[in-house]
Amino acid sequence: MIQSNEFAGKIVLVTGASQGIGLEICRQFSDLGATVLSVARNKEKLETAKNTIKNNSNVYTYPCDLSVESEIEKLFHKIKEKFRKVDILVNNLGAYSDKVEWNAIDYDLWIKTFETNVLSAYFCMVKAAEIMVENKTKGVIINIGSSSALQVKKGRLHYTVTKSSLHTLSRVAAMDLAKHQIRVNVVSPGPTATEIVQERMQDPEQRAQEEARLKKIPLGRYASTVDIANAVVFLSSSMGEFITGAILPVDGGYTIGETV
Ligand SMILES: NC(=O)c1ccc[n+]([C@@H]2O[C@H](COP(=O)([O-])OP(=O)(O)OC[C@H]3O[C@@H](n4cnc5c(N)ncnc54)[C@H](OP(=O)(O)O)[C@@H]3O)[C@@H](O)[C@H]2O)c1
Repeated sequence: MIQSNEFAGKIVLVTGASQGIGLEICRQFSDLGATVLSVARNKEKLETAKNTIKNNSNVYTYPCDLSVESEIEKLFHKIKEKFRKVDILVNNLGAYSDKVEWNAIDYDLWIKTFETNVLSAYFCMVKAAEIMVENKTKGVIINIGSSSALQVKKGRLHYTVTKSSLHTLSRVAAMDLAKHQIRVNVVSPGPTATEIVQERMQDPEQRAQEEARLKKIPLGRYASTVDIANAVVFLSSSMGEFITGAILPVDGGYTIGETV
C-alpha cells in the first residue's frame, strides 16, 4: 500500500507541469510528502498552477524551455546546486498539434515535434540519471507516452513517430540503467480530459471528432488527469519496485482494439 509519507524527502522533477496532466502529477506527489520541482516555459503560469496545489510549500517552480539542450543543462545545474539529488523524473512534456497529412509534414514541424517529444526527455533522462548514479539513488524515471504510439492514427504521423520513439528510448534506458537500480517506465495515456479537450469541444467539427473517439473507449469515458497521475505515482512507489521497461496504457481499453 502507498503510505501517506511514501515520498517524504524525495525530490521529484516534473516537466510540462503548469497545467493538465503535469499539474496533477505535481499535486499528487506534493500531497504524498515529496519536494516537487515543476518545470514549464511560462513563469506566471507555473506560479498560478502552484497556487492551485493545497500543500505547496515544497513545490519549487523552474521556468525553462526544455526543447533547448543548453537550457536543460542550466536547469540541472541549478537543481544540483540546490537539492544535490533527483529521486524521480517525470518527463510529461509533449507537443500535440493539428492534423497534417502524412506527406505534408514540413521540416520545421518534424524538428519541433522531435525536440519537444523526444530530445527534451532524452537530455533530461541523461542529466537525471547522471545525478542518480553519482548519489547511488535507486531512482525512477517515468516518461509520458501516448496511445497514439500504440495504434496508428491518420493525420498524426509526426506525433505518433515521436511518441513511439519515446517508448523505445525508455525501454533502452531501462535496460542500461537497471545495473544502477534505476527504473524507467512509460505511462501511456489515452484520450484525457485536459484543457485541450475542453477547447476542442467548443468547435463543432472537433467536438464531433471527440464524440466519435469517446465511443471507441471500452470503459466509456475519457481518462481524468487523476487516472494518469495515479499510474505515475504507483510506478514510482515501492509498490512498483520490480517494474522496469514497462509501457502501461491508462486508456480505458482504447488501445485493446476495435469492438466491431
Ligand atoms: N491530453 C491528452 O489527451 C493526452 C493523451 C495522450 C498523451 N498525452 C501526453 O500527456 C502529456 C501531457 O499532456 P497535457 O495534455 O496535459 O499537456 P498540455 O496541457 O499541452 O500542457 C503542456 C505543458 O507543457 C509545457 N510546455 C510546452 N512546451 C514546453 C517546452 N518547450 N518546455 C517546457 N515546458 C513546455 C506547457 O507550459 P508552457 O507553455 O508554459 O511551457 C504546459 O505546462 C504529453 O506528453 C501528452 O503528449 C496527453
